[in-house]
Amino acid sequence: MLITRRHLVAGGAALAGAAAAARAQTLVPTSAQMLGPFYPVLQPADHDADLTRLKGRAGTAIGQPINVIVRIVDLKGNPITNAQVDLWQCNAAGRYDHPGDRANPAALDPNFQGFARLATDQGGEFKFRSVKPKDYDTPVGRRTPHIHYSIDGHSERLVTQMYFPNEPLNDIDFLLKNADPRQSVIAEAIDPLSGDPQALAFRWTVVLGVG
Ligand SMILES: [Fe+2]
Repeated sequence: MLITRRHLVAGGAALAGAAAAARAQTLVPTSAQMLGPFYPVLQPADHDADLTRLKGRAGTAIGQPINVIVRIVDLKGNPITNAQVDLWQCNAAGRYDHPGDRANPAALDPNFQGFARLATDQGGEFKFRSVKPKDYDTPVGRRTPHIHYSIDGHSERLVTQMYFPNEPLNDIDFLLKNADPRQSVIAEAIDPLSGDPQALAFRWTVVLGVG
């Protein structure tokens, strides 16, 4: 067969297209963030996906309820199944249930769980219900609302923090400023989940660089 210039150009374009497609399939890893001083020192007995209630107590946590759906994927977007996830946060007054936060004048909430240990499903997802954490002061600046995560994938641990979109303090938070890329640690607001219209809802995709 006679290979014409047109064939060569078309072939080159196809190769360039394939290379671009391969590049497009590679996602950007989610930024790591510091563990912070408030990882629980004792594993609470109750660590399920509803942080707004504690087993054995009738009350519910104070604050704006939120539902968060987290999806964990590899660089190609494949779900990481059975990833083990610890997450922890301050309450709606900005207080951590941790001995290191005793000087904080904000009150503990006896009905707030503050910590969960969860795992991703076959789709790489897990969901939890909580209350929106408040911003709080630190010796090095005010923290915008965030939730801490330690994620064990199949061959990688990612310690990071998730932020909320459109928060006034996002622009001054010293840790969020250093996230690279910044957008990788900011969740997306979504419509409230069916059956839970009072709760704000957020979706966040975590990309593990190794998996
Ligand atoms: Fe924190």
